Amino acid sequence: MQPQHWLDRWEEGRIGFHQPQVNTHLTRFWPELAPKGPVFVPLCGKSLDMLWLRAQGHPVLGVELAPRAVEAFFSENRLQPEITEHGPFQRWACDGLVLLQGDFFDLQPQDLADVTAVYDRASLIALPPDMRRDYARHMQRILPPGAVTLLITMEYPAGEMQGPPFSVGEDEVRRLYQGAAKVEQLTDFDALAANPDLRQRGLSRMREQVYRITIED
Ligand SMILES: C[S@@+](CC[C@H](N)C(=O)[O-])C[C@H]1O[C@@H](n2cnc3c(N)ncnc32)[C@H](O)[C@@H]1O
Repeated sequence: MQPQHWLDRWEEGRIGFHQPQVNTHLTRFWPELAPKGPVFVPLCGKSLDMLWLRAQGHPVLGVELAPRAVEAFFSENRLQPEITEHGPFQRWACDGLVLLQGDFFDLQPQDLADVTAVYDRASLIALPPDMRRDYARHMQRILPPGAVTLLITMEYPAGEMQGPPFSVGEDEVRRLYQGAAKVEQLTDFDALAANPDLRQRGLSRMREQVYRITIED
């Protein structure tokens, strides 16, 4: 999946993945993780979940490729960011919210040195299989030991729909983080009825899963 795919989608407004409300898995399961400190939101788009995390007292650090998404996040929420250069990134910052506009794969461990938690919704599952492997590997390289991730995935029958979003099962999640992190599934349930758009795209079955992933010390 080329960067241009995402830039085009943002330019053309094809952002069906964006949720107009805060994600219910986040509000339900975040208290179970109970992390303190800065939260990293990879491939963050203009997600309102970042505002919810900030309201819980966390400094938030997002990374997002599309300039259009970053601009929209700040302007739609009436925030006036300070914009500076940060290595290969443009850094937009306001009131404890920092978005690095650029490529996730350019992040270095020092960029995430203070991070204690990660919120991954529609990020891992936005990527095709080979990129998911690189994504998980890079995540393990840049996250501090002990960092805990709330990961939301979906699973549907192979061949019924072309991603993104891609189907990512429990076996794959465990394989991706094998040896470097502890993986615990927090819930697994039928989510087709709540996603009529995906039924329209051809899905006969769809489950959502939520995991807690803890990077080992
Ligand atoms: C499916 S969207 C999900 C956005 C957000 N997590 C949400 O829940 O609304 C995936 C996002 O990842 C961004 N993206 C894709 N590849 C990226 C990369 N290599 N680095 C940073 N952002 C990327 C896209 O521009 C897009 O906004």
